[in-house]
Amino acid sequence: MTRRNLVILTGSGISAESGVPTFRAADGLWEGHRVEDVATPQAFARDPALVQDFYNQRRRHLVGVQPNAAHHALADLAARWEGDFLLVTQNVDDLHDRAHAETPPGRGFELIHMHGELLKAQCTASGRVCDWPGDLAADEPSPFHPAGRLRPHIVWFGEMPLGMDRIERALAACDLFVSIGTSGAVYPAAGFVQQARWAGARTVELNLEPSLGSRLFDETRHGPATEVVPVFVGELPG
Ligand code: APR
Repeated sequence: MTRRNLVILTGSGISAESGVPTFRAADGLWEGHRVEDVATPQAFARDPALVQDFYNQRRRHLVGVQPNAAHHALADLAARWEGDFLLVTQNVDDLHDRAHAETPPGRGFELIHMHGELLKAQCTASGRVCDWPGDLAADEPSPFHPAGRLRPHIVWFGEMPLGMDRIERALAACDLFVSIGTSGAVYPAAGFVQQARWAGARTVELNLEPSLGSRLFDETRHGPATEVVPVFVGELPG
């Protein structure tokens, strides 16, 4: 059977070989920081300088990293895929965007950054979002609203992920669901595989090691993303 409606979910594992740290590894981001100190609205209200500094450092780090073979394989796949193609990433880096920008124009590339984007800032008063490639000051004034200030455009713990309507619709119509480089520790993304199964999709996991939800996948391939993703993508029809 030809599978035409494709949903791909990526996590920090896909960017690991580009030099972006994952979250839950021994040397991962959450080992050096408590989530409650840097990744919640309460933390930002309590100590904006600490929170802005955490994201300023991560934003600066992005300048020196490049998309890898796994990002490029997905951008190439999008360019030739004849059905619905939706790439959902939990990553706040811009490596999928850059891989896509470096790919010759193709059929269409729909990307949702469900946990936000490091290179954007959001006004606390109006919710408006703008590009923000540099540092954010502890109380960066907002260009959108006199009472607002700018925060990182990041979905913190306790906040609603972005693009959920579109993601739910795609999952409900999904024929093939592929999860790449995510531990399956954080919902709602960790539940997407179950939703895809309910829709009758074939489910595939590509990860360095079995994720928490590994048993929900019809097929699992374990190895570094730069190896397993290009091979898997190469086996899919155009
Ligand atoms: N290739 C493939 N997978 C890899 C690689 C690699 N080179 N390196 C690590 N991995 C896998 C790990 O084995 C792990 O299962 O990537 C996964 C990363 O898991 P986490 O560190 O939990 O990161 P992620 O799943 O992206 O976290 C989800 O949690 O804290 C929040 O908002 C944050 O978006 C993040 C969310």
